Amino acid sequence: MSMARVEWVAVDPASRHVLELAAKVADSASTILITGESGTGKDLLARHIHELGVRRDAPFMKIDCASLPPELVESELFGHERGAFTGAVERKLGRFELGRGGTIVLDEVAALATAVQAKLLRVLEEKTFERLGGTETLRIDGRLLALTNTDIEQAVAEGRFREDLYFRLNVVTLIVPPLRERRGDIPALSAHFLKRLSSVHGRPDAHLGASACSLLESYNWPGNVRELKNVIERALTFAKQDALGPEDLPDAVRAASGGTHRLGQRLRSLADLERETIAATLEATHCKIGRAAEILGISRKTLLEKRKKYGLM
Ligand SMILES: Nc1ncnc2c1ncn2[C@@H]1O[C@H](COP(=O)(O)OP(=O)(O)O)[C@@H](O)[C@H]1O
Ligand SMILES: [Mg+2]
Repeated sequence: MSMARVEWVAVDPASRHVLELAAKVADSASTILITGESGTGKDLLARHIHELGVRRDAPFMKIDCASLPPELVESELFGHERGAFTGAVERKLGRFELGRGGTIVLDEVAALATAVQAKLLRVLEEKTFERLGGTETLRIDGRLLALTNTDIEQAVAEGRFREDLYFRLNVVTLIVPPLRERRGDIPALSAHFLKRLSSVHGRPDAHLGASACSLLESYNWPGNVRELKNVIERALTFAKQDALGPEDLPDAVRAASGGTHRLGQRLRSLADLERETIAATLEATHCKIGRAAEILGISRKTLLEKRKKYGLM
């Protein structure tokens, strides 16, 4: 097996198991459904699978089903002919066509609009598709990976996601556990991010002090690996010395020790509150950006920016 260009750090038995399964299915053409909370590393795992397998030199195409308006998803996937709809001033190739022979990733697949679900099902069954407004029949030969952070089975039960499509996508399932259920990864991931970020932040000798490390290991990580990465980056930005200490960590993480830092648990920054509110709203709306933005009283664009800032994607 050649070296993958992407490193999916896995030390804990729970994540090693996921990685082993991923390696086993990397070469196959089967559709894979990757599930896991936000920030657990689904995107990176998808990329890793692509790089491990025979498609590594072919395109890797990702489409975010949650942040694109439904009307656009279809044309992003299948492309369109000139004049297919208002504004279609020229032919545009879709991901299925551009990703020929490679890997096509449907991120946040549970957010797909019902109409697009129906179309996708048909396309997957027939293995062919047409560009919107087109007549030429094109074959699908890319490998499909579907990612979801909501409970897709719940979405199926509630009728928000077609069961037949779910079965189509769910040929192989990889469940990425939340970081709190694989704490064995925390030191290795921290070291990985430190190594990658320390020189960027002009702190080549930065390292984790023992007490900072034990706080990181006891914190609950609702934002999973993405949150850990942000915390390391923040610590590198603020640290006064090379050995990163508890004072370089956010209040929420410092409070993880229980006892001595109890105060930090009750007194929180506005940013922490904002982050939590956004996370809860996204969860409650099943990551429907338009709906969540409406509830929060901010624009779609602002929500997408904040979602990125707080690592809630
Ligand atoms: N196992 C891992 N090894 C190294 N980096 C990781 C790992 N898991 C996640 N990351 C990093 O954490 C961040 C969030 O991961 P991502 O794949 O975007 O999560 P998700 O798609 O599940 O929300 C990214 O910057 C990613 O590179
Ligand atoms: Mg993602």
